Amino acid sequence: MARIDPHSYFDTDQPRVRHLDLAWNVDFEAHVLDGHVVLDLGDASAGPLDLDTKALTIRSIRTADGADVRYELGPEEEILGRRLRLSLPAGTRRVRIDYTTSPEAIALQWLDPVQTSGKRQPFLFSQCQAIHARTMVPVQDSPCVRMSYRAQVTVPEALGAVMSAGPAGAEKGPRPGTRTLSFDMPQPIPAYLLALAVGDLASRDLSKRARVWAEPSVVDAAAYEFSEVESMIVTAESMFGPYEWDRYDMLVLPPSFPYGGMENPRMTFLTPTLLAGDRSLVDVVCHELAHSWTGNLVTNATIEHFWLNEGWTVYAERRIVEALRGEETAAIAWAIGQNALDESLRRFGMDSPLTRLQTEMQGVDPDDAFSSIPYEKGSRFLVVCERAVGRERWDRFVRDYIARFRFTSITSEEFMKFLDEKLPGTSQKVNAQAWLRAPGLPDNAPVFHSERLEELVAAAGGWTTGKRPSASELKSWDPKELLLFLQHLPRQLDTASCQWLDRELELTKRGNHEILVEWLTIAAGSDYEPVFPRIREVLTHVGRMKYLRPLYTALGKHPRTRQLAHEIFAAASPTYHSLSRRVVEGVMEKYVA
Ligand code: BES
Ligand code: ZN
Repeated sequence: MARIDPHSYFDTDQPRVRHLDLAWNVDFEAHVLDGHVVLDLGDASAGPLDLDTKALTIRSIRTADGADVRYELGPEEEILGRRLRLSLPAGTRRVRIDYTTSPEAIALQWLDPVQTSGKRQPFLFSQCQAIHARTMVPVQDSPCVRMSYRAQVTVPEALGAVMSAGPAGAEKGPRPGTRTLSFDMPQPIPAYLLALAVGDLASRDLSKRARVWAEPSVVDAAAYEFSEVESMIVTAESMFGPYEWDRYDMLVLPPSFPYGGMENPRMTFLTPTLLAGDRSLVDVVCHELAHSWTGNLVTNATIEHFWLNEGWTVYAERRIVEALRGEETAAIAWAIGQNALDESLRRFGMDSPLTRLQTEMQGVDPDDAFSSIPYEKGSRFLVVCERAVGRERWDRFVRDYIARFRFTSITSEEFMKFLDEKLPGTSQKVNAQAWLRAPGLPDNAPVFHSERLEELVAAAGGWTTGKRPSASELKSWDPKELLLFLQHLPRQLDTASCQWLDRELELTKRGNHEILVEWLTIAAGSDYEPVFPRIREVLTHVGRMKYLRPLYTALGKHPRTRQLAHEIFAAASPTYHSLSRRVVEGVMEKYVA
């Protein structure tokens, strides 16, 4: 037996699932998916087949000719869930498992109509990365197993559905008032990229191959915000090779979506907090789009090599930003990233093993290890390599890398071997071993210079000596520049400073959530009462973990705001995604009311 993924029961000695045929009834009353999956092994197989499951109720398991398959559900493991071991009779190619999910399935959030923009229809969305697909379907839930899939999803007639797949027709459902939508995902993907959303959905075409979906009251704003997506795809293709997924569609979710974006193939999921009205947050779309190459085509073999997904994708994202908006804009993005990296290094501690790029994750819940480190340290490692060999050679390497490993899942060692083969000497020159294996940030971390950047840092640095930027200076900053300025201000300001900032910059009114939350975090940490209602509003409506963590953390600093945090959390937590709730609970544990 060979288990190679600490977060999966997948065993390399056993057959691999090559294809899934899913059939689900989406039950908004019971908050469950009810139906079956047919696992296709490709070849006639026999013997044990271990699958990952969590909180699933299995009704029956049969072969294609209807014979019962013997199975055994193992004990519940806190992180992994329960191993489902099938004993396949000789010659089995397809097995059908009838099952129901649990209302507590981590992958699924069931929203009441009040949690949507339209307030009339319920909404369901999935979030499978890193290891939650097993709460939706019994499967080899390891990124080193890829499968194609088809699905038939029965939903209430008034609702639409999208998946990380192409649409393949709609028909009347098996019961009155329902319809069944079909989907087809011909390219093999790891289970964590399985995705489903159901709700009152409308769409707008953005180009021949790109479309945005959202609730009807949001869809026009979304179409405006993301109208540049085709130029992003074209730019990415020029650097990374052809776009291999046919369409690039996006779905804007209700605000409880716990991430900024999720790269579900053919259907990126996005938080509505990106709808700033001025296209200033589209770098998240660049990021999710870039995953179409780095992550979805070339995939990390396990979460221990997560930087291969996220570090590469941040690198690709910033290259797209640089190509479309110029070097100055990219330098600001790198500086904002540096801030996130510093915060994560502080949170874990400089010598925490979780600050390594290549991590040991046995017994660690991937959701607890999540941080900016694989993103920002990983992308910086690639910049160091790029600078060591020059952009021209590096760009050729990037294209070769993607072409060589497309539709496979690889480890850091496989990446290093390829680097040594194609660009010999580079790994020694940049001290790659330190980057991959040592905690903290190596001394040769790249520095990003730009005139604007230095101006902004200096402006923020002058704050404590009483210097204030002039009105014309303030006006000249774009949203990212303002964000960087705010990030460089002290975390605690006196009342006069808070008043000055809010008066000059109208921060509390901002719709750009990056700026808004940065400001509210400073204001909360400063016990600045005028913003309390706005903080309550944000924490009540927005479930994006990136915003919940710093806001609740800042509220923990003073007795009065700590009380406020407990009060807001008690009221809001039933509406949070279970992942978001866990993050906030982790923050709150650190202080008592
Ligand atoms: N794949 C991630 C989101 C993710 C990571 C979900 C790990 C579950 C486990 C996605 O591509 C991502 O990185 N999103 C970022 C956006 C970004 C621009 C860095 C986010 O949600 O903030
Ligand atoms: Zn990502």
